[in-house]
Amino acid sequence: MGRVRIGVISSGRGSNFQSIAEAIGRGEIEADIAILVCNVPGAGAIERAKNLNVPYVVLDHTSFGKDREAFERALALELTKRDVGLVVLAGFMRLLSPYFLRQFPHQILNIHPSLLPAFPGAHGIRDALDHGAKVTGLTIHLVDESLDGGPIVLQKAVPVAEGDSEERLAARVLEWEHVLYPLAVKLFVEGRLKVEGRRVRIDWSGLERPPTP
Ligand code: GRF
Repeated sequence: MGRVRIGVISSGRGSNFQSIAEAIGRGEIEADIAILVCNVPGAGAIERAKNLNVPYVVLDHTSFGKDREAFERALALELTKRDVGLVVLAGFMRLLSPYFLRQFPHQILNIHPSLLPAFPGAHGIRDALDHGAKVTGLTIHLVDESLDGGPIVLQKAVPVAEGDSEERLAARVLEWEHVLYPLAVKLFVEGRLKVEGRRVRIDWSGLERPPTP
């Protein structure tokens, strides 16, 4: 089998995309990023793709009006025509429909800045702070039809500090995102993830496990 070809989809800053690209560059992940697709013209991820020499396409969802499926057909085509075997959502701020999910069964990863199932949705950090949580964190999961509800691959807890602002807490969570997302991609491309219903079994043989608490 050849190297897995990854399609990264981002709507924004692109720091997780960069952390994965750099791990590949260091030889830690035996895979290639075939394409970065960004749905927001001018987003930071595009500049990063240029600097990292990763091919990219800008696919502006607003140009498809309300036709969600037309956007997703175009998105799926950008990935299938490059033989993408793993789709990595990295700050992609749109829900994917069953149509898209069917094209990539159990082949889509997402990262979310909370310990799911707590605080799903667009404001995981803010919602944890507003709720008065003492611990939050991040979750990497396989994507299914639910909002941030697919089978969990990796999680890491991050304590909330007294007087934390959304920015400070987000920055501490993000440091761990940059460690764990490349690791989750590595586990996937090495065929170490086995999905059994809601559970994802991981073959850790020969690897160091990340800290969980
Ligand atoms: C991250 O906090 C991630 O958890 C969330 O969106 C943010 C993306 O950041 N899904 P970046 O675009 O990867 O810098």
